Amino acid sequence: MAITLLGNSPAGMCPSSEAGIGDGIHVRENQTVLPAGRHGVPFDFADPALATAVSAGLAKVEDLLRTVVLSDLQFATETSRYLVDAGGKRFRPLFTLLAAQFGDPDTEHVITAAAAVELIHLATLYHDDVMDEATMRRGAVSANARWDNTIAILTGDFLFARASKLVADLGTEAGHIMASTFSQLVTGQMRETTGPSEGQDPVTHYLTVVNEKTGSLIATAGRFGTMFSGASPEQVDALTAYGNAIGTAFQISDDVIDIVSPAGESGKTPGTDLREGVRTLPMLYALAERDPREARLRELLAGALSDDALVDEALDLLRGSAGLERARRILEDYAGSARSALEVLPDCAARAALVSLSEYVVARTY
Ligand code: IPE
Ligand code: IPE
Ligand code: MG
Ligand code: MG
Repeated sequence: MAITLLGNSPAGMCPSSEAGIGDGIHVRENQTVLPAGRHGVPFDFADPALATAVSAGLAKVEDLLRTVVLSDLQFATETSRYLVDAGGKRFRPLFTLLAAQFGDPDTEHVITAAAAVELIHLATLYHDDVMDEATMRRGAVSANARWDNTIAILTGDFLFARASKLVADLGTEAGHIMASTFSQLVTGQMRETTGPSEGQDPVTHYLTVVNEKTGSLIATAGRFGTMFSGASPEQVDALTAYGNAIGTAFQISDDVIDIVSPAGESGKTPGTDLREGVRTLPMLYALAERDPREARLRELLAGALSDDALVDEALDLLRGSAGLERARRILEDYAGSARSALEVLPDCAARAALVSLSEYVVARTY
């Protein structure tokens, strides 16, 4: 489903945007990013010219993604391209390209940075599916299920290596930023695996984890977009702060989607967090409830669930739970913080699109 473009530009163009008419974000034929959710809530580009410019940038990112994973070993190319070709939302490169609108978006480094961030993200997905024993990814059988854990781990490593090559082309500062981003991301995955320390509030632990494992890379996507377009340091900081908040919101929404989405819709298997015993925000809030009507839910959430019928029962109860409602409110708070970070930016089409992106992150969970 193509992205719907709503209305006319409510604000002026960003300093460097060019005029043109767009009809949606078509990355490749038959592939669009950020499709409208179940209730048709679209991501609103706010401006056709901006949509055209960003579509063109995303098409270049796609070409780079496909060439940078080529290997002498045909099998390595095949396993790497597997999830590149399966699609995905391209949320991070989209954000890099939007962030680049505050400077000169047409520099080669912007495209390289957007592709590097997406490749790092993709590598973490190969590894994450091993950790989470997932069987579906991007609407396809996950690499660990299609081949095995060894192939999935090696493919993830290969993608990291190729992403590092791209980052090296961006210079030393980018190398430092990506190194600390990646160690934050891995620390988040590790922290999730080890669980809260003794006496630690589990919600504080969860929010630290999601900021590290997802917010960190999305923040860097925005930072790179502004940095490499030559935007001002104040704008770099604003987009980094926005990225941190929207990235955290994005992971909370992913965790809500794991509960609310019908099988097959998200391209992943709903209930994976329950099966893996990963306690996400709606579950933590449900566990903190005292309402006797939710006693059965708390009983089910006490440990990891392997039985399909029990997973379905827990999902059903979670969907109507106070914990889910409370998690949605926190999601909205983070989306609101992301919007606040935009206040220092000029009032232009890219800023309006970033506001829309923050609304999309909430809307996609309905
Ligand atoms: C999935 O990310 C993992 C998270 C950090 C939530 P995305 O939802 O961006 O996955 P793709 O790239 O669209 O497949
Ligand atoms: C993924 O977290 C985070 C990273 C890959 C860094 P999840 O395990 O929650 O993401 P999905 O739901 O499998 O995409
Ligand atoms: Mg996972
Ligand atoms: Mg995981």
